[in-house]
Amino acid sequence: MRSKRADRAPQADSSEIPELSRQLLQAQEEERGRISRELHDETGQALMVLRFHLEMLSSETRSEEQKAKIQESLDLLDRTIEGLRRTIARLSPRVLEELGLIAAIRRQAQLLTKHTGIQAHLDLPENIRPLDHDLAVALYRSVQEALHNVAKHSRAENFTVRLTMSKSRVSLQVEDDGVGFVPPSAQPRGFGLTGMRERTAALGGTMRVRSQPEKGTRIQIAFQLARGGKSPRDAGSRPLANRTAA
Ligand SMILES: Nc1ncnc2c1ncn2[C@@H]1O[C@H](COP(=O)(O)OP(=O)(O)O)[C@@H](O)[C@H]1O
Ligand SMILES: [Mg+2]
Repeated sequence: MRSKRADRAPQADSSEIPELSRQLLQAQEEERGRISRELHDETGQALMVLRFHLEMLSSETRSEEQKAKIQESLDLLDRTIEGLRRTIARLSPRVLEELGLIAAIRRQAQLLTKHTGIQAHLDLPENIRPLDHDLAVALYRSVQEALHNVAKHSRAENFTVRLTMSKSRVSLQVEDDGVGFVPPSAQPRGFGLTGMRERTAALGGTMRVRSQPEKGTRIQIAFQLARGGKSPRDAGSRPLANRTAA
């Protein structure tokens, strides 16, 4: 059963965004974690077993023609497994949890360069003060989505990821020198930028998109910080460790 509030279209006014959004974001992260574990433990395992069987078949057959067909299947399977690994890594919050925000961003940028050849320019602090977990997740997911867009749409030669953090503010910029686009004023076209905007607003932050055809794209996200790296909206809420999953 869905509640009336959850059925409502998202409001533009971020002062309307309540604890509910925060809980939805956390539920979404938990769901992503669950899906990535299932993909790893079930789909991934099944594909490895399949791979093993194909290798056995290949070693048992004498027919060169069959060997070649099995090899083709193995190649396809390997590409599928590699794609699955990437999907699991993208869904899983583990990279963020294990490496921390800065190293996780670095990793995302390196992967993008590896897969597309687009040159990375990183302007990241060596260390940052501990950041509220929801903010770190929001920043990480935004980098993922922005870089995914760079890979998918930009046809850029270079991209830059910049993170700056002061006592009172953390700011993220992802910029590319690609084909750009006309930011939709009323109807958002895709899910990615909209999701990013909603997640940012839900945590009390702001997001700006600057893009022009042939002039590249720049996404900027900023959060004001209360003391101790918390988003002001979170300052009174329970610490993460005390929250339990339903
Ligand atoms: N870095 C970029 N360079 C060029 N176009 C972009 C870039 N980022 C987004 N876009 C354009 O904005 C649209 C909306 O992006 P998004 O909301 O992430 O949806 P999706 O990626 O699913 O299409 C994209 O379809 C694309 O046309
Ligand atoms: Mg996208």
